[in-house]
Amino acid sequence: MGAERGAGSQKSVALEMELLPLWLCLGFHFSTLQWKNGSGAATAAFQGGCKLVGVTADCQGQNLASVPPSLPPHTRVLILDANPLRTLWNHSLRPYPLLESLNLRSCQLVRIGYHTFQEQGLLISLGLADNSLSENYKETAAALRTLQGLQKLDLSGNSLTEDMAALMLQNLSSLEAVSLARNTLMRLDESVFEGLENLRELDLQRNYIFEIEGGAFDGLTELRRLNLAYNNLPCIVDFGLSQLRVLNVSYNSLEWFLASRQETTFELQTLDLSHNQLLFFPLLPPRSKLHSLLLQDNDMGFYKDLYNTSSPQEMVAQFLLVDGNVTNVTTVSLWEEFASSDLAALRFLDMSQNQFQYLPEGFLKKMPSLAHLNLNRNCLATLHFREREPVDALAELDLSHNMLSELHLAAGLAGCLRSLRLLNLSDNQLLGIPAGLFADANNLTTIDLSHNQISLCPRPLPVQVPLPLPVPSKQQSAPNCVDFRNMVSLRRLSLEDCGLRVFQDCAFQGTPLTHLDLSGNWGVLNGSMAPLRAIAPTLQALSLRNVGLSPASAKLDFSGFEHLRELDLSGNCLTSFPRLQGSPALRDPGSPAELAHRSARQGRVGAVLRELAHCLPQPRTPTTAADWTTEWPCSVWTPWLTGPWSPATFPPKSSAWWSCPAGAPQGCKGEQVDMGLLYLVLILPSCFTLLVACTVIVLTFKKPLLQVIKSRCHWSTIY
Ligand SMILES: *[C@@H]1O[C@H](CO)[C@@H](O)[C@H](O)[C@H]1NC(C)=O
Ligand SMILES: *[C@@H]1O[C@H](CO)[C@@H](O)[C@H](O)[C@H]1NC(C)=O
Ligand SMILES: *[C@@H]1O[C@H](CO)[C@@H](O)[C@H](O)[C@H]1NC(C)=O
Ligand SMILES: *[C@@H]1O[C@H](CO)[C@@H](O)[C@H](O)[C@H]1NC(C)=O
Ligand SMILES: *[C@@H]1O[C@H](CO)[C@@H](O)[C@H](O)[C@H]1NC(C)=O
Ligand SMILES: *[C@@H]1O[C@H](CO)[C@@H](O)[C@H](O)[C@H]1NC(C)=O
Ligand SMILES: *[C@@H]1O[C@H](CO)[C@@H](O)[C@H](O)[C@H]1NC(C)=O
Ligand SMILES: *[C@@H]1O[C@H](CO)[C@@H](O)[C@H](O)[C@H]1NC(C)=O
Ligand SMILES: *[C@@H]1O[C@H](CO)[C@@H](O)[C@H](O)[C@H]1NC(C)=O
Ligand SMILES: *[C@@H]1O[C@H](CO)[C@@H](O)[C@H](O)[C@H]1NC(C)=O
Repeated sequence: MGAERGAGSQKSVALEMELLPLWLCLGFHFSTLQWKNGSGAATAAFQGGCKLVGVTADCQGQNLASVPPSLPPHTRVLILDANPLRTLWNHSLRPYPLLESLNLRSCQLVRIGYHTFQEQGLLISLGLADNSLSENYKETAAALRTLQGLQKLDLSGNSLTEDMAALMLQNLSSLEAVSLARNTLMRLDESVFEGLENLRELDLQRNYIFEIEGGAFDGLTELRRLNLAYNNLPCIVDFGLSQLRVLNVSYNSLEWFLASRQETTFELQTLDLSHNQLLFFPLLPPRSKLHSLLLQDNDMGFYKDLYNTSSPQEMVAQFLLVDGNVTNVTTVSLWEEFASSDLAALRFLDMSQNQFQYLPEGFLKKMPSLAHLNLNRNCLATLHFREREPVDALAELDLSHNMLSELHLAAGLAGCLRSLRLLNLSDNQLLGIPAGLFADANNLTTIDLSHNQISLCPRPLPVQVPLPLPVPSKQQSAPNCVDFRNMVSLRRLSLEDCGLRVFQDCAFQGTPLTHLDLSGNWGVLNGSMAPLRAIAPTLQALSLRNVGLSPASAKLDFSGFEHLRELDLSGNCLTSFPRLQGSPALRDPGSPAELAHRSARQGRVGAVLRELAHCLPQPRTPTTAADWTTEWPCSVWTPWLTGPWSPATFPPKSSAWWSCPAGAPQGCKGEQVDMGLLYLVLILPSCFTLLVACTVIVLTFKKPLLQVIKSRCHWSTIY
């Protein structure tokens, strides 16, 4: 065992790393606090600052310099967190031979005597987080070795290197859960976790791991959960841990994720690759049970356009794999590999904050079970619901913050969204919604169409009898409009900043809305609540911020709004409160000045009327664009009240507050994207071929198909 290996270089590394905020994550959670403390009737006693309940002694934060010697000898759970013990002596735990769980988090431990745990044969769970056990790690390792029944061990936050960790875990074959989070591990090879054949859960998050050698997890045949979040892994190639259920590699620098092509069924259910630098959709196992795939905040897209090919089939990546003196080139056809990924069980897919401009044909078809799809913050310009791409199972679809100007629905696909509960189209460039999209959407309760310039469909022809379901009415005359009538399941609707024109009386007829947001649609009510009369009996929350209500609107009549509990009238210029007698659920808001103060301090307040009373500025300084929307002083509205109002000059310049964005966002994630790497990868190599020289990080049980090299992942321009 290479305990001495590289000790010199590790010191400098460790020093450097101590500067980093290692304490951010608490990692592993030991549940000793919830340990059964005998019958619920047991009463607490106190002894030497320790609270005794049943077999539990809780001595947290008592400023103890040593383990109290005279607690009851039958104590099974001992919690000593946050005491300045510094050293655990050979004899410290001798009075407590029945200990099953011992917690020593943040005890400034630098030393644990060889014989400390000699009498602790029953110890199952040991928490040593946030100490300085790297200092006398050999002695500590020797002490731990006597714990042959230990199942849970928390070593997080101890500045351990991989060699120290390896020594401490040596021969602890009974371990089932280990946390090494927040240490200074950098490279993992097969020696680190050797012999941990019962290990089911391994937490390695917040280290500096940049390389995992093939075979590092070879012996961990029971491993189910592996957390590698917040490390420096550049890519994962030939992932082959087929027994794993949960793999978390979020917050690394992954550019590639490539599963092994082996025919075994992978047990993987949850794969978290969010917050990396993936350029392509990960290439997943051909057989798997994956149900949650998290890809948020990467640089992924589909690149048909860059390749100028009619289909993406020709997209190929070549991996140059170097292992010492052996070099091998592996060619991967990106689309075919994607097509052979097994996504049949996928229920949750988060692709938000990426660079997707379109979804290729056949994409959704691979995911017949998909229930939650998040495409928020991408560059989608159009979305096609194609035939033979069933989205029957889709319950939540978030398309907000894209550049969607069109939704296409294949003919004959009306009713395809029958399971949909939530549709978020906020912040796009939509003018309307295809007729029939909501047909049969009997579970649709929430629609967010805010920040799109839509219009509502005109009043139906008199011959049209209100139907229980919204049937695709062939409104050829007004293709770009949205019809919210007779959507019996719809409860929540946001139409904020949609540039709506004055409502017609029956805009929501037959739709029992409980929450409606009409903020930012200037003049939409034209001084009258009549257009909302149809939903008055059901409405509970109504937002009418910045709708240009004028002093004359004080006569707004809320009678009939029996269940209204929340009414937001801020950003209007009212001089007195509207009549609220008809709305018993809405409390009397108190004096206008008090109200203005209160609503400014509390933001949205249930059952409180918000209003810019008497056109007074509110008692705080606005700091964000959002604040401005509620705080804009009334005087600015005067032009609107007295004459034609020009929106172009009105809103504060910095805010995207008034209308839907006219131009495309710069980067789809709302940040500037460095396209350099992408062009390097996609353009430089000739003939649609990518050549990738990559540190191959092999996570495998089987003999690695692709070999491992020991240098960082980089893109090659050799070819
Ligand atoms: C012990 O049990 C009592 C009563 O059920 C409970 O209030 C207390 O929180 C428990 N203590 C611990 C440390 O679990
Ligand atoms: C534990 O006992 C050994 C001798 O058996 C001794 O060398 C060591 O210093 C002791 N350590 C502590 C911390 O008590
Ligand atoms: C670990 O276990 C192996 C076999 O069980 C044994 O040969 C070896 O001496 C043990 N190592 C230590 C440091 O106890
Ligand atoms: C992955 O780990 C990160 C960091 O601990 C955590 O925030 C995230 O929720 C984890 N992902 C999953 C799917 O549990
Ligand atoms: C794409 O291909 C077409 C013909 O196949 C060609 O006319 C066009 O110039 C190409 N565009 C680019 C950007 O290469
Ligand atoms: C590659 O290097 C290993 C030692 O690192 C050596 O045993 C082997 O013969 C070499 N193979 C070739 C083909 O040079
Ligand atoms: C609608 O929702 C209910 C309850 O959430 C669920 O049982 C039902 O299956 C859903 N209908 C469809 C078509 O998904
Ligand atoms: C829709 O998405 C936007 C932006 O992502 C978010 O602010 C809003 O809360 C979402 N609406 C709903 C109803 O979830
Ligand atoms: C707004 O109301 C006024 C009078 O209440 C009415 O004359 C006018 O036609 C209304 N405007 C629209 C667009 O309905
Ligand atoms: C190189 O690739 C060939 C086939 O592509 C394979 O048989 C061989 O094992 C590979 N060698 C290494 C070192 O990966």
